[in-house]
Amino acid sequence: METGLLHLHNLLRWVILVLLVLSVLQSYNGWKSNKTFSAGDKKIWLFTMISAHITLLLGLYQWTLGRFGLFTFVKPEGVSMMKDATLRFYQMEHPVTMILAIVLITLGYGMSKKSVSDVDKFKKAFRYFLVALVLILISIPWPFREIGRPLFPGM
Ligand code: HEM
Repeated sequence: METGLLHLHNLLRWVILVLLVLSVLQSYNGWKSNKTFSAGDKKIWLFTMISAHITLLLGLYQWTLGRFGLFTFVKPEGVSMMKDATLRFYQMEHPVTMILAIVLITLGYGMSKKSVSDVDKFKKAFRYFLVALVLILISIPWPFREIGRPLFPGM
């Protein structure tokens, strides 16, 4: 089960990235072309938020009870979290940055419910989604990084 959950966490990154890029492009387009905010627009934002929240739940499990879990990982004698690149990444940098990104995605989706003009909905959501996208891109353990992981589970 442990491996399955990690694989799902890995795989969901692609779902989030595709949906988030769509949300960024669609909110930018809506803002710049003064579009009317539609149910279809809201649906893309909603799916983006749902995929982010599922990844968050899986991530919280990894963070607390996974291989590097705060409650399960036993640090070898003399190893400090802040001095070890892998531990620092998986126990602090990755979770904290990703949680921030998911908060921004939630705020972006929240714009669909705000009673502001459609152009403001698109403009503000665009900003939230764009910053979230940048945070996610820099916090994914891409294979070329020191702390890298495969692009797809089991690769
Ligand atoms: C947009 C959100 C996120 C994305 C795209 C993402 C992506 C990833 C990827 C691709 C991996 C490598 C998986 C593998 O080894 O196959 C990973 C690992 C991990 N993630 Fe996330 N993550 C996200 C959010 C989170 C959050 C919010 C947390 C914690 C609260 C978290 C905690 C972890 C931990 C602890 C690992 C290491 C697990 C292990 O190797 O045993 N992630 N994440």
